[in-house]
Amino acid sequence: MTSPAGAFAWLPYLPMDIPRGGSASEIAGSELRAGFQALGIAEEPRIRPEGSSESYELVRKDGVITVRGGRQGVLYGAYRLLALLACGRSLPEGVQKPFYPLRMLNHWDNMDGGVERGYAGHSLFFRNNRVFFDPLRIHRYARMLSSVGINAVSLNNVNVIPPMDLLVTGEALAEASKIADILRLYGIRMLLTVDFSLPVRMGLATADPLNAEVIRFWADRAEEVCKVIPDLVGFLVKADSEHRPGPFTYGRSHDEGANMLARALKPYGGMLFWRCFVYNCRQDWRDSTTDRPRAAYDHYAPLDGRFDENVVLQIKNGPLDFQVREPVSPLLLSMPHTRKALELQLAQEYTGQQIDLFYLAGQWQDVFEVMSPEKVSCISAVSNLGSSPNWTGHDLAQANLYAYGRTAWTGRSDPRAYAEEWAEQTFPSAAGKITKLLLASPGVYEKYAAPLGLGFMVNPSNHYGPSPDGYEYARWGTYHRADRDAVGVDRGKSGTGFTAQYSADLAEIYGDPKRCPDKLLLFFHRLKYGHVMADGRTLLQRIYDDHFEGAEEAESLREQWRALHGLVPEDVYDRVLARFDMQVSNAKEWRDVINSFFFRFSGVPDEKGRKIWN
Ligand code: GCU
Repeated sequence: MTSPAGAFAWLPYLPMDIPRGGSASEIAGSELRAGFQALGIAEEPRIRPEGSSESYELVRKDGVITVRGGRQGVLYGAYRLLALLACGRSLPEGVQKPFYPLRMLNHWDNMDGGVERGYAGHSLFFRNNRVFFDPLRIHRYARMLSSVGINAVSLNNVNVIPPMDLLVTGEALAEASKIADILRLYGIRMLLTVDFSLPVRMGLATADPLNAEVIRFWADRAEEVCKVIPDLVGFLVKADSEHRPGPFTYGRSHDEGANMLARALKPYGGMLFWRCFVYNCRQDWRDSTTDRPRAAYDHYAPLDGRFDENVVLQIKNGPLDFQVREPVSPLLLSMPHTRKALELQLAQEYTGQQIDLFYLAGQWQDVFEVMSPEKVSCISAVSNLGSSPNWTGHDLAQANLYAYGRTAWTGRSDPRAYAEEWAEQTFPSAAGKITKLLLASPGVYEKYAAPLGLGFMVNPSNHYGPSPDGYEYARWGTYHRADRDAVGVDRGKSGTGFTAQYSADLAEIYGDPKRCPDKLLLFFHRLKYGHVMADGRTLLQRIYDDHFEGAEEAESLREQWRALHGLVPEDVYDRVLARFDMQVSNAKEWRDVINSFFFRFSGVPDEKGRKIWN
């Protein structure tokens, strides 16, 4: 793919040769020379490596721009310098250092080459049940990640389906280590996802974490893996979740399971990332006493202080599952004696699947408004990348990766600034208009796909498009319980008590329909269709209005894109337009299905007399 911008663009669009030099400062040097030439900058770039940290400083004096920094820091400094110069921004003063020491990307790639919840082609790392990659593509991938400061990646899916469980053994491990060798050049370290029941698969009678043979088994595994990949960050585990095996299978607790694995990794400085996405996925829909958003907190909060110091609990941003709108997970706000990582999702599973435009940085800003960034010690995100030539399927979805990298580096989300930076580097002739599109996109999608915090009205399994009852009588614990009078679940004191998992202040706000923000109203409350909202509209009318407006606004996004013809490269224009066409028809489908759904239950027509199908 050639640069859409002419000589310089954000790195994913730029070609690259496999670097001849090995160290970060050699790579930084050649990237800077090429970048300066492309940008037509006459000043001389200079690299001055000092120490080993990730920090850097950019100094401009007498026609020379110096990047001073640690072994890895100089590469970050070089990429940041190119970004700032491309955007015409001034250089920051003083030493720049990352907020989170670990800024991770989690791929959900399967060994057969598929990507779970992947919307950008197939895996960059696997094919036909083996490790398979194009080295040049991995260089480009690593450079793109490094350019936004990402420094750790897990390659394989959290659902470790055989033969992927053998990735931590023998030949597959040796092959994976070749990817680690490339990533290392760009300051990126690897994690591997492991299957808790691997000991059984390898011939032991049990995977009980307290069994001596099992303990030895994992100690040997960790030793071998860390010999082959000496800078491994550690293991990532999904246990006792959605049918994956875990300590419960053996009558043990999660601290016992996690600590056992962490102790195996400890001699090598390894860390154990333990996901907290644990809930009852075999719920009877008739059971209204079990409330899925409660699950992670109920399960883990009592275990605070029982995890080893190299265990990190990895917690999704919301208590349910990456919905368009959720409150912050109360677990992230609790467990002061436990290390925690925030897990975000760039893969747009519930947010338009990289067909519909959805810029995610606003969601993260909402998280940081409630959770101070120090509450967690690391950050991770499920990848939105794949083999597609533009990496993300939807060209504009690259902005999510860019914004994530900046968020992880700065410890805060600034949606406008990150969108502007990305657009200015990538499509300079249309940067302002593309920024506007990105910033408008989540509000538009939310209007047609997720009324007032109600989630899971999607088609089961593929999670794209509307199906209001698709999950209603299912076992996944995701119910809206709409009837002829009302919709939603009461999660306050008089309901499931979920709000009590927050501080008293927050519990009071969320628990009171008058104070609860509209955007979360139906997440926390069961309300009558006639409930009068702050702006005077009834709940039902607001739902109708949002859906009519959302569908119209999707068309307006497409029109705004059409106006960019000639300002972005033709191939990008065509690809994105084709996606907007799909988005417009998806939005209409959502509008008509959801509006009909509520009209059929309530019998109340739209005040404005617009068409609702009966
Ligand atoms: C969601 C998603 C699954 C994924 C799971 C997880 O439920 O649909 O595909 O495995 O999250 O985060 O583990």
